[in-house]
Amino acid sequence: MEKLLIKGGRKLTGKVEISGSKNAALPAITASLLVSGKSRLHRVPDLADVRTMGRLLERFGAGFHHKDGVLEVDTSGVKSFEAPYELVKTMRASVLALGPLVARWGQARVSLPGGCAIGARPIDIHITGLEKMGAKIALKDGYVVARAKRLKAARICFDIPTVTGTENLMMAASLARGATVLENAAREPEVVCLAELLNSMGAKVSGAGGSVVEIEGVDELKPPDYSIIPDRIESGTFMTAAAITGGDVVLKGVNVEHLDAVMLKLTESGVVFKAQAGGIRVIGPERLGANDFKTMPYPGFPTDMQAQCMALMSIAGGTSIIHETIFENRFMHVAELKRMGADISVQAGVATVRGVKALRGAEVMATDLRASASLVLAGLAAKGTTIVDRLYHLDRGYERMDEKLKALGASVERVR
Ligand code: EPU
Repeated sequence: MEKLLIKGGRKLTGKVEISGSKNAALPAITASLLVSGKSRLHRVPDLADVRTMGRLLERFGAGFHHKDGVLEVDTSGVKSFEAPYELVKTMRASVLALGPLVARWGQARVSLPGGCAIGARPIDIHITGLEKMGAKIALKDGYVVARAKRLKAARICFDIPTVTGTENLMMAASLARGATVLENAAREPEVVCLAELLNSMGAKVSGAGGSVVEIEGVDELKPPDYSIIPDRIESGTFMTAAAITGGDVVLKGVNVEHLDAVMLKLTESGVVFKAQAGGIRVIGPERLGANDFKTMPYPGFPTDMQAQCMALMSIAGGTSIIHETIFENRFMHVAELKRMGADISVQAGVATVRGVKALRGAEVMATDLRASASLVLAGLAAKGTTIVDRLYHLDRGYERMDEKLKALGASVERVR
């Protein structure tokens, strides 16, 4: 198993190129199942999750070819409609195949994802939405078995604005008969990216980015040739990397409009942002100021940045209150940060972080993707050597993060 060995205390400087968004690429890949033919996507990051999605598509009988950021998916040979447990359990986003399979191929058998490290994360909203659109659904042997001749439009109001739920139903509704309305839909930029991709395929989606999305179904879609948006969470992570080391880093290829809530909070803590042609310069202060965070659906502060900002606040001047409202168990990084000398206590979804002068290097274990990023950040700032175990979590969602950090002057090394 690979680990990351980090010698802390170096200020990061230089330029870093932001990759395409993981959470926009994954639904875009499953959107290729809405057609029979060759889809082409650009700026697709080389990540473990993208490779897992490739294995899933190959299971369905599709061709999957990913090189230099360009991904070609050929769905003309699709002949299986089963997403097996062994793949879904390693990547929940596999459930994004459900909507497209039922809508285009009339059937799907997708494993229920079960719990995951950050919380229970059910998919009941995806399922009831598809039922409302006329799919016959049974839960059998841990699988969702869905069938439909042709889906029909429905008016669906989400109890919770679910990101992949909105995406799944948006894809399904694109081929349904009539106009579907999704209310209290998720407003994340990844949802907007998918809506634009679908429209480039001939779909009629309007309102994405707002809480009411309307999808007028069409009889047929055509394969896309589309470019994925920059990864806002990778961008935010490199912003915190610059901030936590008191560094001076230029992020290239970033879309700052997607990072309003994060940049506002970092600015309040003393980080300076300067717009530059094609990017943004991030300058970390001598010592960060404490700040309070509450995770919310977009455009609120993203849960996917909570762990990284907690690492930041662990060495800020003063006490920060961090409230996690999206996933009930997304504090697995706390115990590990404490092993590095952080002073954090958690009660009922709220973390109290009392900033310490400095963190100390330690052996720590990554428990999920964003937790692993927070431990890497902590290691960059800590005195001494930090070893982050279970690096595969980081590799699921960050493209060559160790190499990018090295190029900014960090002392990081992958070891076995
Ligand atoms: N929920 C339900 N029922 C459902 C669906 C969701 O109760 O049917 C609940 C969830 O348990 C959670 C809340 O609704 O409490 C919101 O979850 P959501 O469905 O929006 O999360 P997701 O779609 O499964 C995506 C991202 C996550 C990100 C969340 C929140 C992808 C592939 N994943 O997950 O990304 O944290 O939205 O923004 O887009 C990550 O990249 O590290 C990651 C976990």
